[in-house]
Formats: sequence, structure tokens, C-alpha cells
Amino acid sequence: MTTVRSAAAPPGVVNVSSVRQRSPLRYPGGKTWLVPYVLSLLRSDTYESDVMYEPFAGGGIISLSAVAEGLVDRAVMVEKDDGVAAMWSVILGDHRWLVGRILSFEPTRPNVEDVLASGGSGARALAFRTIIRNRFSYGGIMARGASLIKGGESGRGITSRWYPETIAARITEIARMSGRLRVVHGDGLDVMARCRSRRAIFFIDPPYTAAGKRAGRRLYDHSSVDHARLFRLASRTLNPVVMTYDRSDKVAGMARSHGLYVRRVPMVSGHHAAMDELVITNRAAAPRLRSRPRSRRR
Ligand SMILES: C[S@@+](CC[C@H](N)C(=O)[O-])C[C@H]1O[C@@H](n2cnc3c(N)ncnc32)[C@H](O)[C@@H]1O
Repeated sequence: MTTVRSAAAPPGVVNVSSVRQRSPLRYPGGKTWLVPYVLSLLRSDTYESDVMYEPFAGGGIISLSAVAEGLVDRAVMVEKDDGVAAMWSVILGDHRWLVGRILSFEPTRPNVEDVLASGGSGARALAFRTIIRNRFSYGGIMARGASLIKGGESGRGITSRWYPETIAARITEIARMSGRLRVVHGDGLDVMARCRSRRAIFFIDPPYTAAGKRAGRRLYDHSSVDHARLFRLASRTLNPVVMTYDRSDKVAGMARSHGLYVRRVPMVSGHHAAMDELVITNRAAAPRLRSRPRSRRR
């Protein structure tokens, strides 16, 4: 795999701080650490594609990076969560309103609590609430019951992850790519099953609940996934598939029983522990990397 190292990162582990962060969300279970790996796959003949389908979009970092780097023409991001899907559709259709709201927000605990308690269910209200919930909750967790940041970092307390200008700049940059991004509020497996494009690649990062772990359930309101159907879909499509899962014998066994290929890729967890995750593909060969990066739109 392509690695970006720093003194702080163990050998072979991507240093997340060296990867360009493009998402407005700090997503629990987010795949920023896998960006260099997926981009290197897209530069290879085996995985070259026109459109990326991301059936479990979340913070969308892989789709955003692939489109921004010109490695696919467009991306289809599917998300089941009402708030996350609304945020993406407002960013793609109404981003100036959202940017204005973010820049004018006064980040006090009572104001945060007011936004979270407000009942509006229109797209704008949902989108803003999603950003607030993500930026002011412990670990960025947006699932029901998540608690707000208390001590925070560097004595900044509840505001320790509130960088309004940075978030606004990322949103504006994503809005500039809006012609190449599509958001579907729905079920990623259904969208995957209906996809007929021969030039699509699937990047699949489901909640990690296949091996019965509780963590995947705690992080998202939508955590229950039909993993057996997902593996069936991944094994039957002719399009390239890149899936990520937590390292477990059960998941590796499911992948192999569907004729898929399993690799271990090192990452550093949110608690700074080096660990492996599984990258599961439907292509046997290790990617043959191009001598010069392929980029159609830089
Ligand atoms: C592991 S997270 C994705 C993180 C993303 N790769 C990132 O880097 O930010 C999984 C996401 O899938 C969503 N989800 C769960 N079930 C879904 C389904 N059936 N269809 C679409 N999205 C789903 C969850 O709400 C969550 O946002």
C-alpha cells in the first residue's frame, strides 16, 4: 500500500494528519486513514473507474477525495441517516445558507443545547443540527444518547472541535464539485443492487456489526446491516469492490466463502493504538500502479 509516514506513525501506518481532510464531519469510524490506499487503487488499471458508489457514505471522505483528485468523474453517496443525508443535500444545493449559519453561530453550551433540542425537520434544520451534533459531541458521535464534549482539548472545552472557518471552507469546496456529486437518502444495499453502470467502483464501509461487536452499534443510529446480502452483492458484481471491515475471523471467513480477497491494512485507532483492519476486494491481483498518476481533472 502507499504509505505516508511521519515520525509519529508506526512503520506502514498512514499518518492521518498528512491526508487532506475534505469532509465537514469528523466521522466516527471515518476512513481518512485509508484515502492514500484507495486513491492508489484508483490509479491502477485494475480499479480504474468513472464513478464511485459509496453505499455507506457517512462523512464521505473517500468519495470526496476521489472526485477532488480527478480519479473518478463523479460519485454517488448513499446515506440512510436523515440528518447526515440532509446535510449532504443542503451542501450540494443550498450551501451558502449553511455556511452563513455556521459562521454566525455563537458556540456556547446553551446555544448548542438549543440547536439540538430544536424540533425542525426541514432539510436546513436537519443539516445544521447534524453539523452541531457532530462537532460538539464526544468523539463526533451522532447516535441518540451521545454526550457533549466536556473538558475538550487544550482547555477549549465544548468548542474544542469547532473550527467554523475551516468547516465553511470545506463545505464551499464540496459545493464547487456539486455537479459531480450525487447524494441518495436511502438504503445503500438497494442502490448497489440497482446499479447498472459498468464503469462504477463500489467503496463499502458499513457499520462494523458483522462480527457482533457493540462499537458499531453505539456509533450510528443505523447500525444494523444485512451483511450476508452485502457480501452476496459484492461477490456477484463484475465491478471492482473495495470493502473495509474490522479484523475478525468471522468477517474474513464470510469474505473468503464468497470468493473475495482479504488483506490486512494497518491503521491507528482513535485511542492511538496500532491495529489492523480488513480491506476486502473482488480482485485477486495486488494493484498494478501506474508509473504516472492518472488524473483527468485536477
Ligand atoms: C462506517 S460509517 C461510514 C464512514 C465513512 N466511510 C467515512 O469515512 O466517513 C457507516 C455509515 O453507514 C450509514 N448506514 C448504515 N446503514 C446504512 C444503509 N443500509 N444504507 C446507507 N447507509 C447506511 C450509517 O448511518 C453511517 O453513516
